[in-house]
Amino acid sequence: MSEQNVRVPVNKLVAFMEEALAAMGIPEEDAKIIADVLITSDLWGIVSHGVAHLKMYHERIKVGLQLPVTHWSVVKDTPTTAVVDGGNGMGMVVGNHAMKIAIQKARQYGMGAVAVRNSSHYGVAGYYPMLAVKEGMVGMSFTNAHPSIAPTFGVKPMLGTNPIAVAVPTDEAFPFLFDAATAVVTRGKIEVAARANKPIPPGWVISHDGQPVTDTGTLIEQMNKDQAALMPVGGIGELMGGHKGYGLATMVEIFSAAFQNGAYLSGLHDTDAEGNPHFLRIGHFFLAINVDNFIALPEFKKITGDMMRELRSSQLAPDQKRIYTAGEKEYENTLYVLENGVEVAPGVQKALIKLRQELNLPDHSLGF
Ligand SMILES: NC(=O)c1ccc[n+]([C@@H]2O[C@H](COP(=O)([O-])OP(=O)(O)OC[C@H]3O[C@@H](n4cnc5c(N)ncnc54)[C@H](O)[C@@H]3O)[C@@H](O)[C@H]2O)c1
Repeated sequence: MSEQNVRVPVNKLVAFMEEALAAMGIPEEDAKIIADVLITSDLWGIVSHGVAHLKMYHERIKVGLQLPVTHWSVVKDTPTTAVVDGGNGMGMVVGNHAMKIAIQKARQYGMGAVAVRNSSHYGVAGYYPMLAVKEGMVGMSFTNAHPSIAPTFGVKPMLGTNPIAVAVPTDEAFPFLFDAATAVVTRGKIEVAARANKPIPPGWVISHDGQPVTDTGTLIEQMNKDQAALMPVGGIGELMGGHKGYGLATMVEIFSAAFQNGAYLSGLHDTDAEGNPHFLRIGHFFLAINVDNFIALPEFKKITGDMMRELRSSQLAPDQKRIYTAGEKEYENTLYVLENGVEVAPGVQKALIKLRQELNLPDHSLGF
């Protein structure tokens, strides 16, 4: 293991992930899908959700929070809608199939919506709408998650970090890709600050007595015991619009549980009353809209591209160098990582070495 970050070529990391996933008992085809979602996250620069999560999935499979073999099924089907049961398998595999069903329906009827229950963590929400963009469609995806956000004026973690992802084709080299949690930050960012022993800004987390928390010393422990909660986008109270993030997180929870009669809010704890682990039962929602059913695709792309260009060329704040549109950083990061490799931090290297030993895998010349 190196004390420094190590850059690993993308193809080597993918080969390692596929082999590690197969060694966890995941079928080869499914391992390819999962490795593709994970490497997409690393390519986009979302290092918390890429190869860094490989060990987490292994732990979850080992304790029975999810199954390595994904027996998903369509439980209700109409021309434009479907309900999918994920069979408590791998979220990325379920998500991939569900989004493809939505795309197929949109190709035939203009729109496709698929609600999923009994799934598990599906990685970066933006991966799925990007499958729609590749087909000249607009895509959307939502997922619920383990409770961690407190409602506005509350202190108990009730809602997951419930991301919203929307991807839209443009005439540029990259689409509009908005993909973000409805919490002011993801839990991953708190963990990074805690590991570095750094404080967090007031407004990210609230304690159970209603005070903003900045010290990360015992914060993760407090959050695990429901003694501290993340804030919705907009932060504490109503002043900076915390109620709007709260509303969006609730919307995602509804889409991820109500159409499919799935688990929600406190029902998403991963242990039962006796503290025994049980299936995660996470829900997702996927939407595909075929642009050509409204307007010719090139015309649509020109309009959305013009919007992006107009936004980026608008007047800068005095101390800023550049205005971005959503999806732009991910595109630029992808080009950089393809050229230079994925940066793997010492903590992640350590976890991967342990995983390699546990699964009895060769080192794949990863450089650690
Ligand atoms: N599966 C789950 O349970 C789960 C839960 C929460 C988050 N996530 C994932 O975590 C990832 C990170 O979420 P996050 O909340 O930290 O995202 P974030 O705060 O990094 O925001 C990312 C989004 O904002 C855009 N963006 C960034 N800077 C911008 C700028 N200056 N101008 C315009 N747009 C800009 C990006 O293009 C991207 O669309 C996402 O991929 C999300 O899907 C997954």
